[in-house]
Amino acid sequence: RVNILKRAYEEEVRKDIKHMKNIAQMLRLYFTIAVDKAFPGLEDFPVAVAPTNNPKFGDYQCNVAPPLFAMLKGKVAGIANPRQIADAIVREFPKSIDVIEKLEIAGPGFINVFLNPEYLIEETRTVFLHGALPAPNPCKKRVIVDMSSPNVAKEMHVGHLRSTIIGEGLARLMEYLGNDVLRLNHVGDWGTQFGMLICLLQEKFSNYLTGNKQLPVSDLQTFYKEAKKRFDEDEDFKKRSYACVVELQSLNPEYLKAWNLICDVSRKEFTKIYERLDIKNLIERGESFYQKRMETIVKELDAKGLLEDDLPEGGGALQGIRKIMHPPDKSLPLIIVKSDGGFTYDTSDMATIKQRVEEERADWIIYVTDAGQATHFYSIYKCAKRAGIWDPTKVRIDHVGFGVVLGEDKKKFKTRSGETVKLADLLDEGIKRAGDKLKEKGRDKEMTQEEFNAAMTSVAYSCIKYSDLSHNRVHEYVFSFDKMLEDKGNTAVYLLYAYTRIKSIARKAGVSLEQLQEYGNKSKITLAHPKELKLMKTILKFPETIEKCAAELVLHPMCELLYDIAVYFSEFYDSCYCIEKDSKTGETKIHMDRLLLCEATANVLKQGFDILAIRPLHRM
Ligand code: ARG
Repeated sequence: RVNILKRAYEEEVRKDIKHMKNIAQMLRLYFTIAVDKAFPGLEDFPVAVAPTNNPKFGDYQCNVAPPLFAMLKGKVAGIANPRQIADAIVREFPKSIDVIEKLEIAGPGFINVFLNPEYLIEETRTVFLHGALPAPNPCKKRVIVDMSSPNVAKEMHVGHLRSTIIGEGLARLMEYLGNDVLRLNHVGDWGTQFGMLICLLQEKFSNYLTGNKQLPVSDLQTFYKEAKKRFDEDEDFKKRSYACVVELQSLNPEYLKAWNLICDVSRKEFTKIYERLDIKNLIERGESFYQKRMETIVKELDAKGLLEDDLPEGGGALQGIRKIMHPPDKSLPLIIVKSDGGFTYDTSDMATIKQRVEEERADWIIYVTDAGQATHFYSIYKCAKRAGIWDPTKVRIDHVGFGVVLGEDKKKFKTRSGETVKLADLLDEGIKRAGDKLKEKGRDKEMTQEEFNAAMTSVAYSCIKYSDLSHNRVHEYVFSFDKMLEDKGNTAVYLLYAYTRIKSIARKAGVSLEQLQEYGNKSKITLAHPKELKLMKTILKFPETIEKCAAELVLHPMCELLYDIAVYFSEFYDSCYCIEKDSKTGETKIHMDRLLLCEATANVLKQGFDILAIRPLHRM
């Protein structure tokens, strides 16, 4: 098993030496080989290798010996303590490995790994010359990311902002890894609320069928509120609304037209937000898309005998019988057909999962919604499996849940008057605040108006995205413009400044990228200062950070790495001159090796920004 792995890995490495190598993964592999040789016949023994935070213990540490000792104690002759296990592993460690300078055994058998500086330099050279490229992906997957998914006529709130930002980050991560990604916007564009909206539309704009193509409604939320009020207060309106739903769901063209007009208004609003946030290739495929498929799946479930009649609690007899489906573990059932014959959110997600597995041929489906929907998706998976629609051994499904956004008062994020915050207003405010901040620093005087506007917008959107992504998504987080616009600490502003500064160094030294490339292609590079080594080790953690993000479907480790890189860069820059002026002769000396390290650092930062959908600036 190990040999196959090793050969496959070396094959990959030979094929394409341009990509970045995952050092932690390589070490894991080498330790696995060594354990396998020292103690043959162990089944699937996990070998963890973790970076250390104390240079005394090397750069990485492998802690496999103590648990291995606990397992082998008394079974293998001559093993009296974990250090002997560690000894045996070190003895069998592949010899010709260029990644490592030395291995040391410490304490009760921890194996400390010291990376080879020559290796670090060569990897840094690769990153400088080719960028932060991923290893080739031999098994490209078709990944569907269900993201953003606001509801027509209702407000698009900060929850949808989170789903959009996190979904986009994960989609970009999956693309970076060489997968084929389909971003789907599962817009809430179907269901009973359209009955009352259409009903009000008919009343207020009776000429909507013939008249102007656009609906004279700019603010759909107000229109929605008005419709809701009428629905709650006026019995006749309510009756007509229900009749409208029936017409719509039977796809009556007149009603479809009204529905389309309403969706158009929302669509325009959503599109503006996506353009501002640089979200591309997000395909709108709302609940309405599944109407016919919902009819089909209900028949299918019924034919398989999976639907049960159920009386809704409290006055159920009046409302009539509905059809539900139980997951095998008797957790919350899905409501598949309401007593009035209509379908629900559950029905649409059952139809959706089937469509994605069968028609889209997805290998992996990722749903990005607030954590509150976890139980809904849990029931959907269980029922889809029970119905034979989804085979978990063939298609992977993940629910990527996230916590709520809080205001600075630690309560649910609202405007001062207690209303839901409109996303467009939020983005506007971000731009204003970012502008003020830049003006405070006098940046408006150093840049052209155009540059200033670009800086202001980039700072605003980057901060909003970054402050979201830098928190572990499962937790709630406090939305604070003051915090996210600080230029110290783990903020987008700090990172963007670091990037522009790095990019300006070679420029100031008067060295062009071509000159540096020629140098990088031919010359022997020397980087030996502890701060240089630390920086190289940090940028070379990019692949293992990507691996972690992909394994857990989180993005905060990437933010942490980028922040570390910026911090270690500034330590390096403070102690190592890139351009040095001789105080006596007045001559300047340019350290090309260091310029190369600067550019390699910028390449990694840039790739990280790309995944987070952040656009760095050349001036700010
Ligand atoms: N429209 C839903 C909401 O606003 C999110 C939809 C998520 N996707 C799904 N397939 N159910 O919460």
